[in-house]
Amino acid sequence: MPAQQQAIIVQSPKAPFVLGTCDVPSPADGEVLIKTMVVGLNPANWIQREYNILIDKYPVVLGNDVAGIVEAVGKGVEGFKKGDRVFGRAAKGGFQQYTILAAKGFIIPIPENASFEEVATIPMAFTSACIGLFAESPIGIALNPTFSLDTKHQGESALVIGGSTSVGQFVVQLLKTLGFSRIVVYSSKAHFEYLQELGATECIDRRAVPLESLPGALTAPVKVVYHTIDLLALNTAYDCVAEGGSIVTCQPTAPFDRDVQVKNVRFIRLAPDPSMMEIFLKNEANAVKCLAEMLERDIIKGNRYEVLENGVEGIIGGLGRLQKGEVSGVKLVAHPHDPVS
Ligand SMILES: NC(=O)c1ccc[n+]([C@@H]2O[C@H](COP(=O)([O-])OP(=O)(O)OC[C@H]3O[C@@H](n4cnc5c(N)ncnc54)[C@H](OP(=O)(O)O)[C@@H]3O)[C@@H](O)[C@H]2O)c1
Repeated sequence: MPAQQQAIIVQSPKAPFVLGTCDVPSPADGEVLIKTMVVGLNPANWIQREYNILIDKYPVVLGNDVAGIVEAVGKGVEGFKKGDRVFGRAAKGGFQQYTILAAKGFIIPIPENASFEEVATIPMAFTSACIGLFAESPIGIALNPTFSLDTKHQGESALVIGGSTSVGQFVVQLLKTLGFSRIVVYSSKAHFEYLQELGATECIDRRAVPLESLPGALTAPVKVVYHTIDLLALNTAYDCVAEGGSIVTCQPTAPFDRDVQVKNVRFIRLAPDPSMMEIFLKNEANAVKCLAEMLERDIIKGNRYEVLENGVEGIIGGLGRLQKGEVSGVKLVAHPHDPVS
């Protein structure tokens, strides 16, 4: 293992992402160091830099969703050893060649039939989908508080606004697993076929049906709405939900001015709030167990992906494309050990 590694570094608050080098960390007690074969990119990564959110120290290497090979383990780590193929969610440090994962956090062995790329698309988006749907208030709409896979919601209906987002694709699969019989997605037409493979039963083209017409385009109001994207769509989510239904959004700043008491609607907003970290981590542990079981039973798929060129440096352009909204229906992933030209 080298002493130094290539990394994408943010030097100070709101400074740009730049290619640099830094030390390869040693795993402390309870930590696992992996050689990062693939890292997945999330909108949260550029948002964190742009708005200086949840960063306690600079310079910093951001990046969370990693897949690779265990290189070393710290004291007290059980269940993982050098050479194991694993994936997980790092607190930070994904945009470099070696990454630390907490052995008791989000780390899962990679199933034999899955690639590093496929599983690197999963952690953050799956967690947001799973916690938002399954967990109790204040971070979920409590469809399945035990996170068991046998809870059934047959006959129930849901709408996913932004069905083709990475989060939306996992929401669709989780709703299907819970037994929802009507799963409506609002997305670009190009993704209809794929979303139907994942479990969507009705697709509404967001280019043909403007937001204000969405409630009227539904054959009936739905029991659950998961709002993944488009700040202006959160009020529409309320207009689509049935009396006594639930809405969850992963948009922390989307305006919402409806009175939820009028229809007795449960409303949950997922936000990166440090005061919620303990409850988030507790629920993430449940989501991780649930995901491991879904992978074992082969009932969940990672997102389709596009591999960025130019090794670790390719991450910078990928984050720029995410920020400009130029990514559609795929997860961008990078290979940090590929050569940088
Ligand atoms: N609060 C949290 O804890 C949390 C956690 C995770 C994610 N998030 C947020 O959730 C959002 C989704 O994240 P992600 O990683 O899933 O995103 P993503 O996959 O990068 O989203 C890209 C997709 O957005 C879709 N899209 C763009 N504008 C849309 C619109 N007006 N209506 C419907 N779909 C639209 C595009 O769909 P089409 O190509 O079909 O048009 C594209 O496929 C991001 O804003 C992210 O920051 C928040």
